[in-house]
Amino acid sequence: MQVLDSIQTLREALGRARRPLGLVPTMGYLHEGHLSLVRRARAESATAAVSIFVNPTQFGPQEDLTTYPRDLSRDLALLEKEGVDIVFAPSLEEIYPRGFDTWVHVDLLARRLEGEARPGHFRGVCTVVLKLFYLFRPERAYFGQKDAQQALVVQRMARDLNTGTEVVVCPTLREPDGLAMSSRNVYLDHHQRRAATVLYRSLCLAQEMLRRGERDADKIRTAMMALLQSEPLVSKVEYVSIADKETLKELEHIGGPALVSLAVRIGRTRLIDNVTLTP
Ligand code: PAF
Repeated sequence: MQVLDSIQTLREALGRARRPLGLVPTMGYLHEGHLSLVRRARAESATAAVSIFVNPTQFGPQEDLTTYPRDLSRDLALLEKEGVDIVFAPSLEEIYPRGFDTWVHVDLLARRLEGEARPGHFRGVCTVVLKLFYLFRPERAYFGQKDAQQALVVQRMARDLNTGTEVVVCPTLREPDGLAMSSRNVYLDHHQRRAATVLYRSLCLAQEMLRRGERDADKIRTAMMALLQSEPLVSKVEYVSIADKETLKELEHIGGPALVSLAVRIGRTRLIDNVTLTP
């Protein structure tokens, strides 16, 4: 496994790399969810590549950039075991050299949900992902359904800018009690960790209401909200959304595939989750 931290050495390694190349962009502190993307990339590509970069431009000023968990040597050991060929773990200056002033902006899709709750977030995500696509020229890049809007926004960007990369979206991996795997779960103490299952429980409630024939999105949102607010350790519900799966426009009536998503704070930890439901 080649571990590279400069664009120059990455270009040299990519010149020798067999194609097709599958890229898994990450911010490190890898868990089974990331590893499932890596396994898919490994299975579908001659060269499996992973990037590890905690991208400061996608964090807001009040967010957890400084405390975001990092453990490069553990990540590298995990990736080595998975048979990854190339790991790119650049410094801040390598990605954002002095005077950096070019940004990628996806418009409508990036304004809703996470875009509204975290202004500037997708501008940071798209800018770094486009740089990675431009550097690696991957035939495929792998993203998790856990960040459903990110996957849609990156797919939109890849199509609009003709990057030539197929954006592959892989299922969310969950802990046995339903909590979606996330690097941020490490912030939760024992009580908060138990309380955090309320996210998945409220998604299951939506699924169950739909199964029983409910099609009024507002009734489902209200029931989900009530369940979330019944959990004392939930400090804030940022949004509960039932939206069109492609456009992310909020629905009144559920007549086709819907993305049910939510962002909730447990103490100071912000968690997101989603499921796609089809009536
Ligand atoms: O999902 C993530 O970990 C990040 O948003 C990504 C795609 C690696 C861009 O920094």
